[in-house]
Amino acid sequence: MGSDPDFAAKLRGNYDEAAPDYSVEQRWERYTPEEHALYRRLFERQSKLVPRYACPEWIEAIARLDAAREIPRFDLISQKLKSRTGWEIVAVPGLIPDEAFFTHLANRRFPVTVWLRKPEEFDYIVEPDVFHDFFGHVPLLFDPFYAEYLYEYGQGGLKAMRLDAVKMLARLYWYTIEFGLTHTPQGVRAYGAGLMSSGGELPYSVDDPRPRRRPFDLERIMRTEYRIDRYQDTYFVIASFEQLRRDTAPDFTALYGRIRNQPTFAADSP
Ligand code: PHE
Ligand code: CO
Repeated sequence: MGSDPDFAAKLRGNYDEAAPDYSVEQRWERYTPEEHALYRRLFERQSKLVPRYACPEWIEAIARLDAAREIPRFDLISQKLKSRTGWEIVAVPGLIPDEAFFTHLANRRFPVTVWLRKPEEFDYIVEPDVFHDFFGHVPLLFDPFYAEYLYEYGQGGLKAMRLDAVKMLARLYWYTIEFGLTHTPQGVRAYGAGLMSSGGELPYSVDDPRPRRRPFDLERIMRTEYRIDRYQDTYFVIASFEQLRRDTAPDFTALYGRIRNQPTFAADSP
């Protein structure tokens, strides 16, 4: 009820019953058998790719979740998560405004969209749905370094709002949380949620010779534009979640000030 109707106008979820923090009840009993079956098909397709393309932390975590058969109950997952890293899932109608989003993260609550895509969107969907949000994002919340990084990202987001720096910080989210790659003993692997939930881009990001794979570089990321309508031209590869957390721990205030008026790099810049 307290959510902003203008914000919801262009989005597909039902924001009418959302609380002021944009949370809703998951109302798991409303999912149809067809939706559970579609979720299961999505899960099965991605599961075939995971051993070859996902980072080990993600693979280890999904095994704990018992989430292959049907759309998971968020409250059961939250119980497991809370005892491991202090995180929980909150159900939301879809995308939410920056401040609400950062505030959830800064309180170790990960917003997960309640609705599932339509069958004709099996391969591609514009807005995040429960499959993307759950399968892509939730497993890594079991990793202590990743979990801490995302919590600090939330705090940093609230700070970036005060500093008018959200655009720069959002690029960091994009190139890590959504489309990040990591080095592993087996070679480069994916951890970004946009990759983990995509049948096409997951293999592409790791195997295809065309995109650039640059070592993680905070300043470069904050100055690199991105495309939301196609596979990425550039990926950034971290050494480990511990390194990601360490490299982003310093206060960004001075960095924002220094780079805000510098030119940006195009997504496909060499
Ligand atoms: N160190 C950042 C700041 O001072 C906060 C942050 C941490 C942002 C981790 C993103 C990721 O703003
Ligand atoms: Co996402």
